[in-house]
Amino acid sequence: MVEETPTGEQQIPKAMHPSILKVIEQRKALKEKLSNIKHKIGVYSAKGGVGKTTVSVNLAFALKSMGFKVGLLDADVDCPNLALFLGITGTFPDEYPLKPVDKDGVKVLSTAMFVDDEKKPIIWRGPMIGKMILEFLDNAEWGDLDYLIIDLSPGTSDAPLSIIQLLDLDGFLLVTTPQHIAAINTIRSGMMAKRLGVATLGVVETMSDGVPKGAAEVSGAMKCDVVGVIKYNGKFSEMSDRGVVPVDEDSKIREEFIRMAKKITG
Ligand SMILES: Nc1ncnc2c1ncn2[C@@H]1O[C@H](COP(=O)(O)OP(=O)(O)OP(=O)(O)O)[C@@H](O)[C@H]1O
Ligand SMILES: [Mg+2]
Repeated sequence: MVEETPTGEQQIPKAMHPSILKVIEQRKALKEKLSNIKHKIGVYSAKGGVGKTTVSVNLAFALKSMGFKVGLLDADVDCPNLALFLGITGTFPDEYPLKPVDKDGVKVLSTAMFVDDEKKPIIWRGPMIGKMILEFLDNAEWGDLDYLIIDLSPGTSDAPLSIIQLLDLDGFLLVTTPQHIAAINTIRSGMMAKRLGVATLGVVETMSDGVPKGAAEVSGAMKCDVVGVIKYNGKFSEMSDRGVVPVDEDSKIREEFIRMAKKITG
């Protein structure tokens, strides 16, 4: 904090180096810039392959079907799948600031849109991933949104950490499968969020037999509600591989995700 002396001069406290102040100011400026996004929800698990992208996409489209203005950010910078799940292909203009793609009324940004071949690996160290996420937030025209849904990468480092540091999140929706190992890793993400002061909005179990097991474990450890139990259903992978959104195609899946969206959004 900048303090004033009795004579009115501004004084930087000795304990706060100017470079730290600059970082704090940058975060404050970003917060103001993104103030037209009412809610920011991260979809997260430290475990890979549990259904984070599936839940992000279907939750976003469920919210859109409920009449909200929604954005989807692919924070899985080096392994971006969101564009594939949405059938977003083609080349994108070199516009700056970045313009999210409008996919049936949902605004989408993903590194995949800036890579000429979807099979090309993006081999970046942590600082580059952090910089790309900052670009997606600071230099993108999101406009007015009710919800920004952020599809996170697994792990408890680079991308999740950047999102936590840069954004004032409403919280994380945790995702797990029924397996104990998936639950343990999802609890790790919840614990990380808790340590950094981010709320857990609930846990969803995917590829379930209908009785929550992994989600029950996470719910007990994190003291959060099980907000969704999505049964194993081959339609999810079949539709995603075609770039079709299950919530838009299947009324039962839509109802399930709308139920979940209502629980999360209160
Ligand atoms: N309820 C479900 N029933 C059947 N298959 C599902 C279900 N949910 C997700 N899948 C499939 O599981 C696979 C992994 O899902 P997804 O890519 O969403 O996981 P992820 O956590 O985002 O993975 P990553 O950590 O690699 O980003 C996909 O092929 C997806 O279609
Ligand atoms: Mg994913």
